[in-house]
Amino acid sequence: MKISKTAQAFIKQEEVYGAHNYHPLEVVLARGEGAYVWDVDGEKYYDFLSAYSAVNQGHCHPHIVKALTDQAKTLCLTSRAFYNDCLGPYEEFIHNYFGYDKVLPMNSGAEAVETALKLARKWGYLEKGIPENQALIVGCGGNFHGRTISIVSLSSDPDSYSGYGPFTPGLVKIPYNDVAALEAILKEHGKNIAGFMLEPIQGEAGVFVPDQGYLKKCYDLCKEHNVLFIADEVQTGIARTGKLLCCDHEGVRPDIVILGKAISGGVLPVSAVLADNHIMLTIKPGEHGSTFGGFPLACKVATAALEVVKNENLAEKAEYLGEIFRKELIDFHSPFIEIVRGKGLMNAIVVKPHKGKEAWDVCVRMAENGLLAKPTHQHIIRFAPPLVITEQELMKALEIIKDSISSLE
Ligand SMILES: Cc1ncc(COP(=O)(O)O)c(C=O)c1O
Repeated sequence: MKISKTAQAFIKQEEVYGAHNYHPLEVVLARGEGAYVWDVDGEKYYDFLSAYSAVNQGHCHPHIVKALTDQAKTLCLTSRAFYNDCLGPYEEFIHNYFGYDKVLPMNSGAEAVETALKLARKWGYLEKGIPENQALIVGCGGNFHGRTISIVSLSSDPDSYSGYGPFTPGLVKIPYNDVAALEAILKEHGKNIAGFMLEPIQGEAGVFVPDQGYLKKCYDLCKEHNVLFIADEVQTGIARTGKLLCCDHEGVRPDIVILGKAISGGVLPVSAVLADNHIMLTIKPGEHGSTFGGFPLACKVATAALEVVKNENLAEKAEYLGEIFRKELIDFHSPFIEIVRGKGLMNAIVVKPHKGKEAWDVCVRMAENGLLAKPTHQHIIRFAPPLVITEQELMKALEIIKDSISSLE
């Protein structure tokens, strides 16, 4: 891949002055609009990562940017030491939008996951009657819930947890997409299990879609054992998979929903935990919080971002365009493509190495041809364009993907 001197200078700066905790594709972006981004040399690309599904509403959506700039001139941050005139209206808006009694606002996805873990434990002690310090939370192998110590304590990815021990106790892993495994652990330890947390589709694992019916069966088992069903919808939520929440595909209403990323359209770090009163009110004043959680700017931005999702029918669009996307790639028959999978506009291909080329080489070639995507786990490429992409743009993007792959065969 050719890298200009200007781009090289930015890459070098990051290398010299920044921690080396990422390995980006060598593209230096300077501007974004809708489904497109431009690099520092003015080259235009389709963005097929959408900042890991944070930019569902497209880059710099004018409705969201207006909400941001209007509020930025008025009041940005108060902390929760005082009331403000944005948080209450936002909380009521979220209640009406998602149908949960209450929201607990945070900032990053990982913080929202931490919040859900704490909430489940509190509920476990106060409501379920689990003996002190004995609460368990069950998660799934292959998960990605973020990067804090507690969250990586539940990870099965050595890159995530190695060298970070000692780990948080009380977190138990079972295999994903395995109802029998959940049933077994609930039978054995159900009395002490406060919650079962999962991604309705495992995003970072490579858009791993569980069997149809898995979510509902797990939900029913949780109900049977008085265990909270906790859905991490940070990546799958907000219309990405063709429904507002991915759990909607199976008619499951989780006890706790974790949201992040696209709740702000990728404009600010905003996250949220949703639950009904009997769960949410177990946390009392002073027992949890964040300086920025639910700050006025975030409230306005997230409200605008969620309005865009409804006003522009992004869930329906994702469902419709996703069908086209998968069908085109399945019909393409390339020796590189082993599997095409996904839901809505959250899709991936599993790449079979061919003539010494693998997923990374495909991504580099696609970037050269004007489309950005990133491999996950070496052999998988995730495709998640902004949901505002038009059918015509999607067809053009598919052409780039197919041509790029063909050129490597
Ligand atoms: C399912 C899921 N949960 C949580 C997170 C963590 O979010 P954040 O990076 O905002 O902390 C991610 C991030 O990719 C995610 O995909």
